Parts: sequence; structure tokens; C-alpha cells
Amino acid sequence: MSEQGAFERLQALLHEDMEAVNHLIATRMASEHAPRIPEVTAHLVNAGGKRLRPLLTLAAARLCGYDGPHHVGLAATVEFIHTATLLHDDVVDDSDQRRGRPTANLLWDNPSSVLVGDYLFARSFQLMVETGSLRVLSILSNAAAVIAEGEVLQLSAAQNLATGRDIYMKVIRGKTAALFAAATEAGAVIADAPEPHAEALRDYGDALGIAFQIVDDLLDYGGVTASLGKNVGDDFRERKMSLPVILAVEQADAEERAFWVRVIERGRQEDGDLEHAQGLMAKHGALEQTREMALEEIGKARAALDGLPESELRAILGDLADFVVSRVV
Ligand code: IPE
Ligand code: IPE
Ligand code: MG
Ligand code: MG
Repeated sequence: MSEQGAFERLQALLHEDMEAVNHLIATRMASEHAPRIPEVTAHLVNAGGKRLRPLLTLAAARLCGYDGPHHVGLAATVEFIHTATLLHDDVVDDSDQRRGRPTANLLWDNPSSVLVGDYLFARSFQLMVETGSLRVLSILSNAAAVIAEGEVLQLSAAQNLATGRDIYMKVIRGKTAALFAAATEAGAVIADAPEPHAEALRDYGDALGIAFQIVDDLLDYGGVTASLGKNVGDDFRERKMSLPVILAVEQADAEERAFWVRVIERGRQEDGDLEHAQGLMAKHGALEQTREMALEEIGKARAALDGLPESELRAILGDLADFVVSRVV
């Protein structure tokens, strides 16, 4: 079965569950008291999004034999947390495109994005309380704190050429992998899975999330805006020390280093600088090296699945790991 097919196979297998999740999201994202809320949430939610994290929650729960009603609310919770972080992230990153649409901060304003993001966070907590599981509450509330820590750590790591691989890994494990890991672990926990199974699924989510963000950072230099639905070059403009930059800086000669100091540290960017940065990455093979590092994480994700009983879902999750690295959306 092709790697490309894994995501579609997962969607097909969990189609009914996912419809229920989408219905729940639609009913809970509205507010009768502040019309701005449904305007902003509909704009973002109706644009789609891959729904990868809620799919992971559903898959983990089903893989662990869950037969109750709470996986749907749990999956919606995870997508609400994700959507809230996107609203906040686009303000922080001053981004103007998301899911192929203008961002909420561009269409409305920063206060609307921040406050509607807060609203979605609060709604996610209401939803997770409904599962009645204190352990689920603990997993997801921890994840929410760790995501914020990752985003804040990134603030101080950006624009600093001394930022290396260790800090980068810490940032992405927080801002992205924490929610992937919580999504899979919470699915196992709601199913009352044995501890080693919950641990295996958490480890799978962690490695998958790290690979996902590494590839996201790769696509920010090597992808295509039209298929990504967000602008290539955003990380460069925001002077982020993402992995492709770190790897290019590690291999830079004196003249190249002066370029990186000017564009990343001093922020004195001119027309053609993004293309020059991409040229330096090509010269040193930085994007290939970035992909290699994502593949290493994929190896860890696949290895984590070995701790689970064999099943169709386990096989699909294995192939999904390859999809994450080959994706262009
Ligand atoms: C975007 O995540 C944020 C990152 C962690 C890179 P997705 O690429 O999953 O976003 P949507 O939900 O599909 O738009
Ligand atoms: C996404 O970070 C992580 C969160 C939303 C917490 P990025 O800033 O790298 O992702 P994009 O490129 O805006 O989706
Ligand atoms: Mg961003
Ligand atoms: Mg960001």
C-alpha cells in the first residue's frame, strides 16, 4: 500500500467517528453572546484543515478497543486546542495566510484572534471535563501548558544565530509534539488500555509530532504556497532559527555567516534574500539533511508501534508516519 494512501485510509476507516467530531466542533464553536466568535471560528474551521490530531485520538482509542462515546468529545477537544493555538500563533508570527485563506488577524484584528483563541481553549476544557476522566484532563491540560512554553521558548531562540539543534528540538517537542503525544495517549487512556500500550502510543505521537514539525519547517523553505495554504518564507521573514537555517549556519563560511547575521540577527532583509538563503541551503544540502532528521524520528515512531498488538489500525499508523514526511500539504 502506498504511503500517500495511509492518511486517506485512516480517514476512510474513521469516517463515521470523524463526522460526529465535526458535528460536535460545529455546535461548540458557536456563541450566542458574541457574534464575532462564530464569525472567526467559522472562517477558520470551515476552511478545513487536515484534522490529523483528532484522527490520531480516534485511531488510538479504536486501536485499544474502545467502544464507548467519549472518544468523539476527546478528539474534538484536541482539535479545539489545535485551533486555539493556530489563532494565537498567527498573531505571534504575523502571518497573513492559513488554510488557503487570509488569517483572522488580517481579516479582523489581533485582539479578535487572541480572544477567540482564548474562547476555544476554554471550550476545549469544557469538552474534556465531559469525558469524566481526571487522567485525560491531566494529559491535555499538561499539553496545553507545554505548547505555550514551546512557543515562548521559540520567542527567545528566534533571531539568535547561537540557537542550535538542542534548543530547536526543545521548542518543537513543546509547541507541536506535545499535542500529538497527548492526542494519542488520551485515546488510549479513555479506552482503559494497559499502561505499556498508552506509553507506546504516547511515544508514537511524540516522534510523529517532531517529524511533522521538522517537515513543516522544511516546507517553509522548500514547499509551495498554493498547496500549503500558508506562505512559504514566513519563517525567514520572522527570523526563526528553524532546522534548515541551523544546518545552513553550521556549514557556513565567513561570507555566508555575514549574510545570516544580517538577515536573521539584524533583520535587515532585502529583496532576493529569501532566494539567496534557499540557494545556500541547496549548496549545503540543508533541506536533505532536514528530511533525514525527520526520517530518524519516523523510525522512532514506527518502533514505538512495536509495543502494540498487531491490527489494521496499527499498520495504518505505521504508514501514516511515512505520509508525514512525504506530505506537501
Ligand atoms: C499546523 O498544523 C501547525 C503546525 C504544527 C505546523 P497542521 O498542518 O496540522 O494544520 P491544519 O490543521 O491541517 O491546518
Ligand atoms: C505551529 O508553529 C505550532 C503551533 C501552532 C503551536 P509554526 O508557527 O511553525 O506553524 P505554522 O507554520 O504557522 O503553521
Ligand atoms: Mg506560525
Ligand atoms: Mg509559530
